[in-house]
Order: sequence, then C-alpha cells, then structure tokens
Amino acid sequence: MRKNIVAGNWKMNKTLCEGISFAKELNDALTADAPHCDVVICTPFIHLASVAPLVAPAKIGVGAENCADKVSGAYTGEVSAAMVASTGATYVILGHSERRAYYGETVAMLEEKVKLALANGLVPIFCIGEVLEEREAGKQNEVVAAQMASVFSLSAEDFSKIILAYEPVWAIGTGKTATPAQAQEIHAYIRSLVADKYGKEIADDCSILYGGSCKPSNAKELFVNPDVDGGLIGGAALTIADFKGIIDAFK
Ligand code: 13P
Repeated sequence: MRKNIVAGNWKMNKTLCEGISFAKELNDALTADAPHCDVVICTPFIHLASVAPLVAPAKIGVGAENCADKVSGAYTGEVSAAMVASTGATYVILGHSERRAYYGETVAMLEEKVKLALANGLVPIFCIGEVLEEREAGKQNEVVAAQMASVFSLSAEDFSKIILAYEPVWAIGTGKTATPAQAQEIHAYIRSLVADKYGKEIADDCSILYGGSCKPSNAKELFVNPDVDGGLIGGAALTIADFKGIIDAFK
C-alpha cells in the first residue's frame, strides 16, 4: 500500500545530546497529537542506538543517512547495513545527491548498498534528482531514469519494499522549491518508469517523496499532488516546530 511519509534528514547536524532531546520532544509532540502520515527521522550513525529506543516505533521510524557498499571487513570508517540494523534503525537514506557529489557514489555502488540494506531488513529511501544545468537543458527525465538503474535490478518483491525520494539538487538548501506542477510532473514520470519495469500495481503502491526546501508554508501544496506522497526534509527537519508543521500538512 502506498503510504504518505514525512522523513527528516538531519545530515551532519546535532550533537548526540541535541539529537536525544529532539527525539524525545518529537515523540512527545506526536504522542499528544498523532500524525496522519508515517514519520521517520534519519540521523547520523552515532545517534541511532540512543535515539531508536526513545521513540514509539509505531509513530516514528529511525533511519541512517548512508551505509557501506560492503558486508564487513577492512573498510576503515565505514558502517555496514547490518550495523545500522543492530541499532534498532529500520530505514536508510541511500543515493543522496550530497553522497553522489561529494563522496563519489556511483550507480553501481548504490545498487550494492540498496541490496545490502534490504538483505538486512532496512527500508532504503532511495534518492534521485538532477542538478540545475540538467534541469535547464531539459534533461531531468533522462537523469532520473539513469539513476533508477541502481534499483531496477531488484526483484519485484524487493522493489516493493523501497521508498523513492525525488530531490532536485537545485532546490536542496537553496530556498528554491520545485513548483507543485514541476514536482507532480516528474513524480508522475518516475512512477511511469516503475510501471514500465514492474507493472502498474507496484508503481501505484510505491511512495515517492519530494525533497528540496520543503517547509511548513509549502508542504501542503506539494503533498496534495497525486504522485507526491510526502517529503524528505533537510533544514526544516531540524526544529520541532518546522518538522511538525510539515507533518501537519497531511491533516
Ligand atoms: P533541504 O530541505 O534543506 O532543502 O534539504 C533537502 C534534502 O536534501 C533532504 O534529504
């Protein structure tokens, strides 16, 4: 079943203490006022084991922002999907544009990461999206189609477990949001790619989140589109007021 989801990506923000306080506060806020969508917080690795037991799993899922493309072994500084799962986390963001741009993550590496995440029971939130020059050249569809190769080798059963997030790079942290029409157009295109590969039923069930300068003031106009099933939120996921404001867009 397709779900509406609001997921926060903390990126490299919040000390452990700050992360713990935020998780407790969010849990209290969503216990007092139940969300009308699934809520996920994706935190730095070191926060996961502390944050996961602090939130009610039925209300708030916890996820990592990355995992290794290898099972285990001599890969200094890396964190495996099994390690992430052992903290109590159940989601992992993979293929974020910042990982692709600054850490050289490729389609092939991401294919491995997605497979390892699934093999360890994690739900991948798989990110795709074009940079400004690609958008200006009208190449956004071509770009996202090529990025989807990382997940199109999955079996239909495995594909149906993943969440997609369309994040135009030109909208991330820039204050420049895709218009609702731009978001709907490309989300519908992404869903059509899934339908071509796996059939209409799996495409209809797939949650496709929008990310890029999403905030309480624009969340509703984005989420109301038929192919936009929620958001992957960066800056506005760092304060309870903004994150809750976006979650409340589903009310
Ligand atoms: P912003 O919401 O800060 O633009 O970041 C979006 C994002 O990259 C979420 O993964």
